[in-house]
Amino acid sequence: MSEIIPPLSKDLKRVLINEDAIAKRVSELAAEINEKYKDIEEPLILVGVLKGSFIFMADLVRHLTIPHVVDFIAISSYGRKGAERGEVRLLMDTRENLSGHHVLIVEDILDSGNTLNYLITAFKARGTKSVETAVFLDKPERHQIPVDIQFMGFEIPDVWVVGYGLDYKERHRTLPYIAEMIPEK
Ligand code: IMP
Ligand code: MG
Repeated sequence: MSEIIPPLSKDLKRVLINEDAIAKRVSELAAEINEKYKDIEEPLILVGVLKGSFIFMADLVRHLTIPHVVDFIAISSYGRKGAERGEVRLLMDTRENLSGHHVLIVEDILDSGNTLNYLITAFKARGTKSVETAVFLDKPERHQIPVDIQFMGFEIPDVWVVGYGLDYKERHRTLPYIAEMIPEK
């Protein structure tokens, strides 16, 4: 029986990464995380960056076999241009005290690098045991600051993508696949 695929929304160009490819890659990343943290003594604190990371986080943690705690933060980057200028502001902090813990930041996409650079620096200043990053997508062509990513899902070209948590003005965030937008005229 052939799979029934609903038609793409008119403002989307094509599917870049389908559901099966996402599921396979996320379970591979979880296996890498399970291996890396297998000997830690207290739970790993995963900190998701809202809103974009919420679906990646939900899928990732269901494959984890190590002790872990899920937490979230919200940041404002003053829009994409603001993020490019390095303007990042914390809107909602973690509930957990990160001091003395191994922390894994869970983020939707690495673009300029400003968001992750800000968070890694801020979390290290809190006396964490370690701060690493799991990022679902990477746009290497757009990097402005070097950021060390330990667990990376997929590299993509410099196009605006939506779905699997990522949005365009809050649209298409809950699509189960990653799609490329047709740029607005
Ligand atoms: P940064 O430039 O690495 O700080 O990333 C800033 C933020 O821009 C990311 O966390 C995403 O929320 C957002 N972003 C960057 N590229 C895209 C995209 O293609 N689709 C949706 N959101 C994006
Ligand atoms: Mg984001």
